[in-house]
Amino acid sequence: MNENTLESVQQCLNQFDVTEEQLQQIQAGILGDMERALGRQAGSSPSVQMLPTYVRSTPRGTEQGDFLVLELGASGATLRVLWVTLTGISGPRKEPVSQEFTIPTEITLGTGQQLFDFAAGCLVQFLDQLQVGSQPIQLGFNFSFPCHQTGLNQSTLISWTKGFRCSGVEGQDVVQLLREAIQRQGAYNIEVVAVVNDTVGAMMSCDPSPQACEVGLVVDTGTNACYMEEVRHVAELKEDRGRICVNVQWGSFGDGGALEPVQTPFDLQLDQESLHPGTQSPSHGRARAQAMLQELGLTPSAQDCAQVQRVCGAVSSRAARLCAAALTAVLARVRSNPERSPLGVSVATGGRLYKQHPRFSALLQQTVRLLAPDADVTFVPSEDGGGRGVAVVTAVASRLALQRRQLEETLAPFRLHSQQLKAVQAQMRESMVRGLRGESSSIRMLPTYVCAMPDGTERGDFLALDLGGTNFRVLWVKVGSRSEEGIKIINRVFSLPESVTQGTGQQLFDHIVDCIVDFQKENNLSGQTLPLSFTFSFPCKQLGLDQGILLNWTKGFKASDCEGQDVVSLLRAAIRRRQGVELNVVAIVNDTVGTMMSCGYEDPHCEVGLIVGTGTNACYMEELGNVCAVPGDRGRMCINMEWGAFGDDGLALQEFYTPFDLSVDQASINPGKQRYEKLISGMYLGEIVRQVLLHLTHLRVLFGGQEFPSLQTKDIIKTKFLSEIESDLERWQVRAILEKLDLQADCEDALLVREVCQAVSRRAAQLCGAGVAAVVEKIRENRGLDRLSVTVGVDGTLYKLHPHFSEQVKDAVRELAPQCCVRFLLSEDGSGKGAALVSAVACRLAGAAGP
Ligand code: G6P
Ligand code: BGC
Repeated sequence: MNENTLESVQQCLNQFDVTEEQLQQIQAGILGDMERALGRQAGSSPSVQMLPTYVRSTPRGTEQGDFLVLELGASGATLRVLWVTLTGISGPRKEPVSQEFTIPTEITLGTGQQLFDFAAGCLVQFLDQLQVGSQPIQLGFNFSFPCHQTGLNQSTLISWTKGFRCSGVEGQDVVQLLREAIQRQGAYNIEVVAVVNDTVGAMMSCDPSPQACEVGLVVDTGTNACYMEEVRHVAELKEDRGRICVNVQWGSFGDGGALEPVQTPFDLQLDQESLHPGTQSPSHGRARAQAMLQELGLTPSAQDCAQVQRVCGAVSSRAARLCAAALTAVLARVRSNPERSPLGVSVATGGRLYKQHPRFSALLQQTVRLLAPDADVTFVPSEDGGGRGVAVVTAVASRLALQRRQLEETLAPFRLHSQQLKAVQAQMRESMVRGLRGESSSIRMLPTYVCAMPDGTERGDFLALDLGGTNFRVLWVKVGSRSEEGIKIINRVFSLPESVTQGTGQQLFDHIVDCIVDFQKENNLSGQTLPLSFTFSFPCKQLGLDQGILLNWTKGFKASDCEGQDVVSLLRAAIRRRQGVELNVVAIVNDTVGTMMSCGYEDPHCEVGLIVGTGTNACYMEELGNVCAVPGDRGRMCINMEWGAFGDDGLALQEFYTPFDLSVDQASINPGKQRYEKLISGMYLGEIVRQVLLHLTHLRVLFGGQEFPSLQTKDIIKTKFLSEIESDLERWQVRAILEKLDLQADCEDALLVREVCQAVSRRAAQLCGAGVAAVVEKIRENRGLDRLSVTVGVDGTLYKLHPHFSEQVKDAVRELAPQCCVRFLLSEDGSGKGAALVSAVACRLAGAAGP
């Protein structure tokens, strides 16, 4: 061969020389594209895809079990099936059993069904030989094509590569297609638990000690890489903590032209002849060369073989160097992570070209050292072609699937369907009727002696007390004309220490009088005897407007010597004990009644009062004729239902009581009492959630099974916590809230905690809605109406502050009382105003104007 020929060969081969500068440009180009793709910046069209794989941690080495692995596309038109046994940290290592199948071209170019039936057929063939019997089998699917994953076992094929072109698969979930093919075989009980890209399989197959691989590199028929990225950098995930493996899909780099400087006419021709022109740009002994050229029907001279070798060398060198440039871009991402291991980075390598080519890996590593001299990189050959890695991911996926099942089993009893709610509505209705008749009923239907709503003519100054909710308040209420002054309120919140709420009755009422006196002083009311209305939010058998016998404490109150006593007398006695104080107690009012009156002042259709706060209860205007305890059958009277005790007689709600509810009830100061309230109100929801979280921690579903002392602490989870967790927060914000409770959670935990809160509060809202539906339906039927329009005055921190509670109550009422048009009116200024209006109405009816 003469000089000219050698010269022209050299000129030709020079085109495959990629300079260091070009490699750095390519490295920078890929890095730029990676960051744009991660940011999902609008208008940018990066040519690498950066696909989240939902693999969130490198192997822990603890994974155990037998797993079936199906590899499709990792090495061209072959398919491999493996049986991998993971033995955890301590167990002896077991070599996988595997079998390779060649996929006929008519299958790789046929229909998707043909391909997946072929794959399922190979699985059956393999398992028949293995004789695994009928046990359920968990399969990890190593599918090495560009896919958009939405979960560990959900993956949509974006586009075929590597010579595949089966119809009806692009845009489809390949896991579903495989499941259907396995079902068509109907031979084995195989569950497809995870789908994994071959680079991920390579990365996950590495032994985690002394250091887990954080990058997976495959150079085979195709080439690609994956690596562990910070989730906060992956825009589509909207998370802040933890890492996730990202499948770079760098094969498409340069589709936008970035590789033109290094592309030769040979590459362009190859591209044009490829199945997918314009995408996926660019990819050995003398005797071997001779043999191969002869196989191609050529008769090469020794020099020809030498030149062919040079061409091969030039092409593969460029491939190794280009691959190195891309890999150093990935390494730059890994090394930008402040939390990365100080031990440098380990890269798992796989693929026949990388493994079998005599110089590829060495040249690649050399170029990596050139382009990233300060990167401390260890290359670790992946085992079993990544089969073990796929099994590890499958083990992780099955653990997550088991956790999901355990979570669903735990939360299932909280998911109520409409039949159950209709039953609650009907049982409540029956109990209401029995209560009104004075028959035994868990709902006591207490007459309140409030028979009229405010009509706007009320006037006067009133003192009001508001006891029983989150805060104890003293109020000065000035009732003026509705059109002019309206109602003005001056109030002050006073603390109520547990020593008072759980001390003696005398201590409690003396404390109340002390607060009144302080308030009077502050507002220059000392010595004035304003009519005083007492909102006392506990079950009282009223004998008149200003007489109420406390039946039993609720909501954590248990002051002694009060139950069975007339509360107004207890207050008056305390006033007498306090020398020089004159107070004219004219009315005792339940907070539901106060709320109804206060909203009734705004909306005359308001005939129901609802409280969903620390406790829960409702009242409504009942036909006097239906109230057996009060003589007379004309007009209406407001009935304080005390529905919190619904089910205390064991005739209702049994089926809804989960072990968590029972624990909360048992640990309360009134076990067996207020059973409806304990499923609904703010004082208990946090505790129910805590019990469920404890249970899920025991099951290792949550917090990796770590039992945090804070979670053992009673009442540590306040209802405010549910409202915050369920509001529209990002996962990291939820995590931050958990951290405030000394619960170290990852983003998966945060999501699970939110699901628990949602299930508990939704059940509460639905049960509350069933109660409201029973009340409005009673009013409608009382009045023989086809349709009823009514307003419900409502108050209470849970209803007011929880992001979804009120809407869920309304949804339930709409479904359960379709003939009622129910408006929910939030009470402003609480029920103190309503209590003052009760006095004002009483004064008006009594014909006595306020002072
Ligand atoms: C308002 C009313 C109180 C009522 C309370 C219930 O504050 O003025 O009379 O008891 O709501 O809600 P809570 O969430 O405070 O228990
Ligand atoms: C009490 C009711 C009160 C409700 C809301 C319940 O525990 O028994 O009287 O209306 O809480 O505060």
